[in-house]
Amino acid sequence: MKASPKSLLAVLRGARQERPPLWLMRQAGRYLPEYRALRETKGGFLELCYDPEAAAEVTLQPIRRFGFDGSILFSDILIVPHALGQKLWFEAGEGPRLAPPLVDSALASLEAVPARLDPIYATVARVAAALPVETTFLGFAGSPWTVATYMVAGQGSKDQAAARRLAFGDPAAFQAIVDAIVDVTVTYLAGQIEHGVEAVQLFDSWVGALSPRDFKKYVLPVIENIFDQLKDLPFPKIYYPGVASGELLPLLGGVKADVIGLDWRVPIPEGRRRLDGRFGIQGNLDPYVLTAPMDVIREQALAVLDEGMEKPGYIFNLGHGLFPEASIDKLKELTEFIHCYTAGDGRK
Ligand code: CP3
Repeated sequence: MKASPKSLLAVLRGARQERPPLWLMRQAGRYLPEYRALRETKGGFLELCYDPEAAAEVTLQPIRRFGFDGSILFSDILIVPHALGQKLWFEAGEGPRLAPPLVDSALASLEAVPARLDPIYATVARVAAALPVETTFLGFAGSPWTVATYMVAGQGSKDQAAARRLAFGDPAAFQAIVDAIVDVTVTYLAGQIEHGVEAVQLFDSWVGALSPRDFKKYVLPVIENIFDQLKDLPFPKIYYPGVASGELLPLLGGVKADVIGLDWRVPIPEGRRRLDGRFGIQGNLDPYVLTAPMDVIREQALAVLDEGMEKPGYIFNLGHGLFPEASIDKLKELTEFIHCYTAGDGRK
């Protein structure tokens, strides 16, 4: 059974819904054979991102398979560093690489290439024209902190050590990187909205590496600034403070977002309490639950749903992104289960 038309958009705007809308972070990608086939013909992940026809197709693939209520633009948070002039490529089996890493190279040495955002806008326009009417179209960007962790280290990093070192050791250099990311990010999100997305999510996947004190100093003003700059665009906004961010939630009160994404470590009622009930909630099933037998998945999803649906403004999602080993059959069953949810129906 499908949820009502644009149920995700309604919930993002704070509506009370009988049925929980759902989408999953990283719902497009390698677990889908149709994705792997198209990536193969295009030559690689970045080639897919920069080919609007192919990227639009990949955006739509999980919607066709599962009928999720939200469709997230297929792209990557690292398109922004690429537009800022870093080289970007993906090492097979390892992950992203950016050069030069800003640990040992000045930001001023980069020459920005803003045209690298243009194909992404073309993808947005294509998807907007092709999505089923009941599906809400989400755009996104990485938050400056999370994007900076890659720009500084030149790759993904354990504990985001290089970025923390730079922020603490040379705050002016770090701030210059963040400022550059903020400028492009605001333009980029506004551009996605202009071309047809209906809501946006800011991914701050690695902000949980910081103490609340340092989050307040290095990240919070930046996040507040981005949402302030977007506040006159009448589109719902989601902030996802990433893994292990529970201690940061009480600090988010001044952020002009509508919904906060929770990771699986924070029970939803506790998350709501820490957020003073000011935001809708998205989340927060542990993605590794999806590797369990179906009865375990149902039991855990039901527990999350019961907590989420206690209050209006709830969106089902994972606590972090879906991984490449995800099972298509289990995801189909899970989607059906969520769309058939009714509170207290005795399935516990
Ligand atoms: O959610 C979606 O389906 C939309 C597309 C999307 C991708 N990346 C596609 C992708 C989104 C929203 C992202 C966000 C992203 N990218 C984040 C924030 C979310 C999170 O997971 O914390 C981060 C940290 C990145 C950076 C990034 N991109 C990494 C670390 C990797 C390599 C990881 C891996 O699994 O190989 C990527 C590559 C990437 N981005 C892939 C996809 C589908 C895999 C590329 C491939 O090999 O086909």
